[in-house]
Amino acid sequence: MATSAPASPLSFLALLLLLASTSVTGTTNNPADELVAAVNSNRTGHKSSSLFANPGLGCVALEYIKAYKGQCGDVGGNMRPPNSSFTEIFAPDCGVDAKSLGPITGRLIACQTKYVKPDEAFGLLVRDARSLEILHDKGHREVGAATVGTDGGSPYFWGVLFSSGGANGSFSFEGGVPKPNRPGCYSGANDDCSAAAVRAPAGRGLLAAVSAGVLFVLAYL
Ligand SMILES: *[C@@H]1O[C@H](CO)[C@@H](O)[C@H](O)[C@H]1NC(C)=O
Ligand SMILES: *[C@@H]1O[C@H](CO)[C@@H](O)[C@H](O)[C@H]1NC(C)=O
Ligand SMILES: *[C@@H]1O[C@H](CO)[C@@H](O)[C@H](O)[C@H]1NC(C)=O
Repeated sequence: MATSAPASPLSFLALLLLLASTSVTGTTNNPADELVAAVNSNRTGHKSSSLFANPGLGCVALEYIKAYKGQCGDVGGNMRPPNSSFTEIFAPDCGVDAKSLGPITGRLIACQTKYVKPDEAFGLLVRDARSLEILHDKGHREVGAATVGTDGGSPYFWGVLFSSGGANGSFSFEGGVPKPNRPGCYSGANDDCSAAAVRAPAGRGLLAAVSAGVLFVLAYL
């Protein structure tokens, strides 16, 4: 490597262009990033601002849907993790400084047995007047999205959390570097996360029976 000829100006330019295009799209192979892209595209299409994809908020969104422990019925019942979970569980698990947590100004959670592509997941999360209202709220400034499967696969959870926190310094990682959180994928960290990473390792099958028959449920703030 050290003895190889210097790269030609042309390949250097190609590399620069490649780097530029990666940072512009801000996505790699990550369904949560794609969901944020769908959220922002729909917002800007309706004259709302594009939201900052805060990786700390993305990780918290992943913790949030994991807190349902695979129970789709709880999503449908509009149950939510207790607020204390943010400081006591979600922030520490993510390596996010609990003092930097911003206010949550909206949430969209969906759960279903089948894994779908992010665009379809967007359609599940935003499917009525109330969810559209939450999506387009002018009070949001940043967004975090996540997806995770349960017990080897189904059911699959999708979650979007919105916050009015300033993009600068809210939901900040201790040490400044996003912490990987598997199973599952979250937005904003610019990390590769294939659909395979969404699936939780198979456990003892305790939750398998729960998912049977559940097609789809949606919850919002
Ligand atoms: C935004 O999403 C809603 C619900 O899925 C859809 O009906 C609408 O056409 C979308 N708008 C744009 C501009 O994409
Ligand atoms: C929990 O947080 C939500 C949203 O931030 C808020 O609307 C609700 O009042 C809080 N509940 C409690 C019990 O503090
Ligand atoms: C962001 O926060 C840092 C440290 O808290 C501060 O120095 C900087 O001025 C802030 N930038 C903006 C644009 O608010």
